[in-house]
Amino acid sequence: MFNKKLSNTTVFMKDRERVQNILQSMMKAGSNTLQVISDFDMTLTRFAHNGNRCPTCHNILDNSKLISDECKEKLTELFNTYYPIEIDVSRSVEEKLPLMVDWWTKAHELLVQQKIRKDLLAMVVRESNAMLREGYQLFFGHLHEHSIPLLIFSAGIGDILEEVIRQAGVFHPNVNVFSNYMDFDESGVLKAFKGELIHIYNKREGALLNTGHFQELRTRPNVLLMGDSLGDLTMADGVQDMENILKIGFLNDKVEERKQAYLDSYDIVLVKDETLEVPNGILLYLT
Ligand code: TMP
Ligand code: MG
Repeated sequence: MFNKKLSNTTVFMKDRERVQNILQSMMKAGSNTLQVISDFDMTLTRFAHNGNRCPTCHNILDNSKLISDECKEKLTELFNTYYPIEIDVSRSVEEKLPLMVDWWTKAHELLVQQKIRKDLLAMVVRESNAMLREGYQLFFGHLHEHSIPLLIFSAGIGDILEEVIRQAGVFHPNVNVFSNYMDFDESGVLKAFKGELIHIYNKREGALLNTGHFQELRTRPNVLLMGDSLGDLTMADGVQDMENILKIGFLNDKVEERKQAYLDSYDIVLVKDETLEVPNGILLYLT
């Protein structure tokens, strides 16, 4: 089954044999030793649909009627400045990191000025173009059915992300979320973001702060990791006594420039693949 999926035209691997060995060893260990750790924006959600970009968690809010036109303009300007830096292969992580902190900090400051009401978030998500990747029902449903924990580790906005998966009917009890959560005042108006900021390049620190979660899952040393950014590669750094890890990377944008870097760090690279077919094929094989 997964062999057929691994022959899809969107699938690229530097070392197919290594992938097959990891999968075999994970299959033998059994699904009760498996956990899945996935990024959210542009990994579980689509990058594009019918030629149009799909929104990130931040974009869902930015494009909504809760945000003034003036603020929208500023947020778009930030996106247009910093997103090209996020995906620029010619800059090192060290160079990008402070710039990403600037992006998140400035965007969150702008959002806090907008007096966003908690009770309107569900409507904002309902009216948005948020879209999970094709095959999401099978993906979430299968993990739930086999009691395999899914950790969604996102530099997006937790409140929005949760609403997207709730409205899609897949926020099952095996799902845990690490993300940036909004902090509301007594009248339900956004006053800040809670805790340590998670941005695209500090997921390792985020993982190491949440030792409790990984401690609970210490009987599951086999990990399926899914991401779309090179920053997502460290999401499993909190996993204790890891035995096998298989990393699946979605390469959505700037494919030619970034392909080699993705092949060097992800075991399986899915190029412009808007579906969860390959992860689903792997899950079916492993369970
Ligand atoms: P992820 O970790 O779930 O993929 O979320 C991070 C994405 O959010 C990253 O690709 C950049 C994007 N983003 C926006 O679209 N708008 C913003 O204002 C910020 C701060 C991030
Ligand atoms: Mg992402």
